Amino acid sequence: MIYGFIGTGTITEAMIHGLMASALSACSSVIVSPRNELVSSRLCAQYQQVTVGRSNQQVADSCDILVLAIRWQVAEEVLRDLVIPANTRIISVIAATDHQALGRWADVPVERIVRAIPLPFVAQCEGVTAIYPRDPVVSEFFDALGTAVCCDSKAEFDQLAVASALMGTYFGILDQVASWLQAKGMPKAKAQGYLKPLFASLGNFTHESEGVDFAGLRSDFSTKGGLNEQVFLDFDNGGGSRALLAALDNVLIKIQD
Ligand SMILES: NC(=O)c1ccc[n+]([C@@H]2O[C@H](COP(=O)([O-])OP(=O)(O)OC[C@H]3O[C@@H](n4cnc5c(N)ncnc54)[C@H](OP(=O)(O)O)[C@@H]3O)[C@@H](O)[C@H]2O)c1
Repeated sequence: MIYGFIGTGTITEAMIHGLMASALSACSSVIVSPRNELVSSRLCAQYQQVTVGRSNQQVADSCDILVLAIRWQVAEEVLRDLVIPANTRIISVIAATDHQALGRWADVPVERIVRAIPLPFVAQCEGVTAIYPRDPVVSEFFDALGTAVCCDSKAEFDQLAVASALMGTYFGILDQVASWLQAKGMPKAKAQGYLKPLFASLGNFTHESEGVDFAGLRSDFSTKGGLNEQVFLDFDNGGGSRALLAALDNVLIKIQD
């Protein structure tokens, strides 16, 4: 299988690292677009299966699966310039750009396009990637890079896109807690050295827990009348949950615009 990537930036680099580390590596080769030159030459130097195309069009002409990984701001200009061969599968990871716009700009039927939301963890084959619509070949690709989650509707896909936008907030919470510890006089290294394994354990525990939902986990990790229960109640009563839900609604509105 030949994978072509147009837009050789952060997420393309992560997907190619994952692909090369995955079970698909032995039967895959990759052609990337020349921009960004630093990233494309780095990938080419690291993996013998990776080559750099002369142009976006050469990438499109040379692959079985074409991954569009440019920013939405340049998507229309790039796609209008491109002729995508009729038998090429198209995956778009371009955020907040729907099938109709992609199809119109690339002049292809929307049925040929699968949208996906890979996350940086695909580089370690640990990412969870939402895809829409369901497609066996695209599922196989993202399953090799972690776990593919197939959406049954655009609404579901948009909702998972919103959920995926929580990564900054996750680190924002850690940053707030680390800053609070520092303000109390704790050295930064000690604060970080405590918080990193604490949250890693929570993540691992959540990942491995079966048959219990998040409300159940909160309850399991909160002694009745204890400190964990108090922090969540104060957070909730202080408007924390309300602010979080409003932020999710706002992103959903933006995505659906
Ligand atoms: N990063 C993530 O975690 C992530 C996750 C899921 C989806 N996405 C989506 O994936 C897309 C790419 O994100 P990214 O983070 O990888 O961005 P990025 O690092 O900025 O990569 C975009 C790449 O596109 C190149 N480019 C710009 N104009 C081009 C053109 N006319 N033809 C070909 N390539 C061109 C850029 O080259 P120059 O550097 O030379 O401008 C850059 O290498 C975005 O739509 C983003 O929303 C990102």
